[in-house]
Amino acid sequence: MNYHRASWLCSAISRKHGTACLRYYSQGTRNTAKAKAQSKIAHIDAERHFSPALVDSFHRKHDYLRISLTERCNLRCFYCMPSEGVELSPADHILTDDEIIRLANLFVRSGVTKIRLTGGEPTVRKGLDGIIRRLNELRPLGLESIGMTTNGIALHRRLPSYVENGLTHLNLSLDTLDPFKFEIMTRRPGHDAVLRSLDVALHSPGLRSVKLNVVVVKGLNDSEVLDFVRLTADKNISVRFIEFMPFTGNKWDKAKMIPSSQLLEIVSGEYPSIIRAPDELNDTARSWKIPGHVGSLGFISSMSDHFCSSCNRLRLTADGQIKVCLFDAKEVSLRDEMRRGASDAELLNVIGLAVQGKQEKHAGMEDIDVITNRPMILIGGTQPRKSRVRSLPRLPAHAYFLDDTLLLPHLHRRWSSSSSQSDLRLTHIGSDGRPCMVDVGNKDVTKRSATASGRIYIPRSAYNLVTGSGDADSTDKTIQKARSKGDVMTVAQLAAIMGCKRTSDLIPLCHPLQISNVSVTLTPECGVSPVPPPGDQGGLEYSIKCTATVACEGKTGVEMEALTAVSVGLLTVWDMLKAVAGKEMKIGEIIVTHKTGGKSGDFTRDA
Ligand code: GTP
Ligand code: 5AD
Ligand code: SF4
Repeated sequence: MNYHRASWLCSAISRKHGTACLRYYSQGTRNTAKAKAQSKIAHIDAERHFSPALVDSFHRKHDYLRISLTERCNLRCFYCMPSEGVELSPADHILTDDEIIRLANLFVRSGVTKIRLTGGEPTVRKGLDGIIRRLNELRPLGLESIGMTTNGIALHRRLPSYVENGLTHLNLSLDTLDPFKFEIMTRRPGHDAVLRSLDVALHSPGLRSVKLNVVVVKGLNDSEVLDFVRLTADKNISVRFIEFMPFTGNKWDKAKMIPSSQLLEIVSGEYPSIIRAPDELNDTARSWKIPGHVGSLGFISSMSDHFCSSCNRLRLTADGQIKVCLFDAKEVSLRDEMRRGASDAELLNVIGLAVQGKQEKHAGMEDIDVITNRPMILIGGTQPRKSRVRSLPRLPAHAYFLDDTLLLPHLHRRWSSSSSQSDLRLTHIGSDGRPCMVDVGNKDVTKRSATASGRIYIPRSAYNLVTGSGDADSTDKTIQKARSKGDVMTVAQLAAIMGCKRTSDLIPLCHPLQISNVSVTLTPECGVSPVPPPGDQGGLEYSIKCTATVACEGKTGVEMEALTAVSVGLLTVWDMLKAVAGKEMKIGEIIVTHKTGGKSGDFTRDA
């Protein structure tokens, strides 16, 4: 029997109510060798000391410790990190490596068999290799598994070393298979790095389990559920769909949460042969398997169908607080006890008191305390007292608040309480002062439209060419060349539509949008230009006006799309006519003329 199997059996021993009994699995029959092994392990397990300090008043035995190693993270997932940011604890408030190992040792000697390293993002912690190695030395005391939950951004190079030092279980957070959506959800780039980490993880023989955590948010990534399911076809991975949970500052809303039961319906609609698979004891996920798929699926229904009655978890925050429930704001500082010189017995006493105070279950989803409990990122950090929350950095006076529209600063100015000019903010600058996408995760989906227009000024010969009028000399070689590219207006119109659809590829921080309609018109104008083009010396009185109207149902406006359509349309006219008019043409007056929908309201401007 290999170590993995032994560990699996170990965790299959029910420790409920102090008795050691084998958990029943419906899947297949166990052979005699396995049964003997189970009985032996059950015996060893029953013999092992389990401290009453880790048993709560509902007889739950807490043999799983989650240790947060840092409050820091290299992503900014909207569901985890409040948009206004969090202030980090002073460095000396964070547990040192020695303090972590001392507490881990105490917990393992008291009955903990499973340790999971979390954050923030655990890989951000310096010396992580050493911590894993030192935890690995606790195995003879009863530690069976060392896991880590990570976002995978900085993992692919370091993972082999973590595994070599003793890491056995890896949970990787990845909420979308779309790199653009990834930036929206995490407010950072790095999708490819996470995929690389997943690949390295799946090729690490030392890892006994690789799970993918997918937090499902309605309207954002729920359309990708079946894509994630497909990953299990040839990958030995457990994809777990997690219900969106409320934490301080994450603007949770029941309407954004999709119950696991609904997701299961979607999956079983596509895969009617899906079957229930065995769960490990105290698992957060209910597991399912699609026959023929190498991997499996899980649903973590913390909100719609909680699993508190089998909860075996305790948490140690990065600043050394013991937290007995994810959703309970109460905490006790083991760090302060250690630093005032408490003995192990005294520490265990403090732990016991905290465990005794654990509630039977967390509050209903709409009554969960999101005021005093920490945001998820700091479940492993300081209490987010209002005065300690870092606000957005001040920007220089010339910075404009730009919502979705670069051209409408007067509509989008957002003044601070002091109304000072220096508080105008750029929405594409994050709380750390670096460029980022606007988090639209919490915005409502509404119908939006925008119209933009612009002009290209052309000489008369080119005007005659595109309108087929006047005295354009079709025998002229340059004119033939221009005509050989096809109908100028039609090509420009198509180019504008295609350009519009590529806006988010071209403008770095623009969100990809599901466009429902684009209409583009190109109108030749003769002597109607209201104002001469900038720098015009006179003589240019012919132009082509390009107008684009774009519509979508989304969380952000389509002004950028309309502007891109017009710009690309006009550039295409230029390209088509440059052989006859390259030296004389001018493009200008590109503006948004009309916009509807969104928080900033409707708007009209004369073209
Ligand atoms: P393993 O079961 O050991 O693989 O890990 P895990 O699922 O407990 O840990 P992970 O860090 O991967 O967390 C995944 C999800 O499980 C979280 O997003 C939560 O939804 C849920 N979860 C983890 N710990 C708790 C907990 O203590 N209480 C509740 N209600 N949910 C939890
Ligand atoms: N709801 C559900 N899951 C969350 N996580 C973080 N915040 C939330 C939330 N609000 C997940 C992360 C990570 C795990 C530790 O918790 O995606 O996988
Ligand atoms: Fe970082 Fe994980 Fe929180 Fe995302 S969910 S911000 S990766 S700690």
